[in-house]
Amino acid sequence: MSEALTLVDIDKKLQESSPQEILSYALEQFDNIAVSFSGAEDVVLVDMASKIKPGIKVFCLDTGRLHAETYSFIEKVRQHYNISLDILFPEAEAVQKLVNEKGLFSFYEDTHSECCGIRKVGPLRKKLLTLDAWVTGQRKDQSPGTRAAIPVIQHDRVFSRPGETLTKFNPLVNWTSQQVWRYIRDNEIPYNPLHDRGFISIGCEPCTRPVGPGQHEREGRWWWEEATKKECGLHQSNVDK
Ligand code: ADX
Ligand code: SF4
Repeated sequence: MSEALTLVDIDKKLQESSPQEILSYALEQFDNIAVSFSGAEDVVLVDMASKIKPGIKVFCLDTGRLHAETYSFIEKVRQHYNISLDILFPEAEAVQKLVNEKGLFSFYEDTHSECCGIRKVGPLRKKLLTLDAWVTGQRKDQSPGTRAAIPVIQHDRVFSRPGETLTKFNPLVNWTSQQVWRYIRDNEIPYNPLHDRGFISIGCEPCTRPVGPGQHEREGRWWWEEATKKECGLHQSNVDK
């Protein structure tokens, strides 16, 4: 209980801190920590972390369904920062069973949860069992429905090992998309070329589309589903309240 209160206090303080201060705190507290990387926000974190403490561990979930541009971007980031990037793959047998039984586009019929469960959540769970803390690029304004209240630091109860605590850091929670993009331009850091073609939030190719003027960025993700269900399970704690 007192531990939970302490974490709330730390979070309160970190809510006022810059992303760099939050990352410094995270890297001081944990050696066995890694950045979960896929998008624009995550390269910002890799850039900041590399400047604070070179050699940050980074991992990426390759679902097998990413855009060709995303694969090129991942490779560009690996080379730009000279980082050891752990690329994680889903279990072949589970993918094969799903695809053989339901086809390659079952998510349009029965929601994305089964496919995301196999292609993203399974490999993430396996990876997080090896870590003490992880860092994500989630921001509050990415999703008013599911991300408005995310803490900077939290105990990730969904992915913790039994009897142990996995800590999750979200250093960019209070940054806007504009701040992320200013950082990217000012520091000339690589970004996914799909952003120049109207894509904002980018996931797997069949489940992502560009958004038009005035549309919220999340509207380009799993557009055939209700807004309240637009979490794929990587950040299940956002919806399990
Ligand atoms: S998702 O849950 O809807 O797919 P989103 O694309 O908003 O997530 O990204 C939020 C954060 O989740 C990213 O900043 C990153 O830390 C993590 N993330 C999302 N997709 C991946 C992926 N394919 N590999 C690794 N981390 C990811
Ligand atoms: Fe499958 Fe789409 Fe989820 Fe990617 S985003 S894992 S293709 S349902």
